[in-house]
Amino acid sequence: MIHITGHTKLTGLLGSPVAHSISPMMHNEAFSALDLDYVYLAFDVSPQELPQAVEGLKAMGARGFNLTMPHKNAMAKLADQLSPAAALCGAVNTIVNDNGILTGYTTDGIGYMRAAEAAGFPLPGKVMTLLGAGGAATAILVQAALDGVSEIRVFNRKSPTYEKAQALVEKLNEKTDCHVTLHDLDDTDDLCDSILSSQVLTNSTNVGMAPNEDTCLIGDLSVFHKDLVVSDIIYNPRETKLMAMAKSQGCPAFNGLYMLLYQGAESFRLWTGRDMPVELIREKYFT
Ligand code: ATR
Repeated sequence: MIHITGHTKLTGLLGSPVAHSISPMMHNEAFSALDLDYVYLAFDVSPQELPQAVEGLKAMGARGFNLTMPHKNAMAKLADQLSPAAALCGAVNTIVNDNGILTGYTTDGIGYMRAAEAAGFPLPGKVMTLLGAGGAATAILVQAALDGVSEIRVFNRKSPTYEKAQALVEKLNEKTDCHVTLHDLDDTDDLCDSILSSQVLTNSTNVGMAPNEDTCLIGDLSVFHKDLVVSDIIYNPRETKLMAMAKSQGCPAFNGLYMLLYQGAESFRLWTGRDMPVELIREKYFT
């Protein structure tokens, strides 16, 4: 049980919609387990009201908050300072308030890297084929490049997202040791060649997500070679068509559920300085 006192520190989530979010359960359970005097609430905030909501939380001395759709990019412009990864992404999913100074972080990419490690597939030094270049893909791409993945081939269809990704790809090649290249998703030969010479294939698009479970960006089973690990950031359904295809060819595959858990764990650490009891939270909310 959370005991609200005169000292309770406020954290929470700003987004729209937020009612479905698992974050309040995850954080409040963890605060309670560690006997921390914090509370986490979800607030449905429209884009127009984001600046006032942020000012209000700051004025009330909130410890910090998460941002979800549609506020991640707008919040990057409202924060006083950004972590290196958040600056590269141009997006923020976590704010820490230190005496009125708001620092923006992005923990989605960290969540992905930790999830891969927890699944038994640490990614530093590996070659990755990344499907998608949107918000989630950008977070993964930036963190993977910062954390020592040796090469990342990003595949997106030719679209405004593709055009936007070009500048980020250039920046990552300049600022990190990772070799990053951008490719046309509709060039299937190029995609197949890339997967055949990668150790990890990551789907960070929403293709395959419910209610379109029957869709998959990969049509050819022969790309699933014996040294490939497949991951999907989707967790609804728990096993996407891509994962099922990979498993049918003997490739291990994991979904996006633990990315969600570990991005939350990293926000929790930034606010409290403590490690989230991930085993407990996993058992209760992530099975
Ligand atoms: P999120 O924040 O969840 O990453 P997003 O930023 O809208 O959402 O990114 C969605 C990604 O899925 C993008 O890379 C998108 O490609 P486009 O921006 O070019 O549309 C990709 N995507 C979505 N539907 C797709 C489809 N049918 N085929 C290929 N890529 C698709």
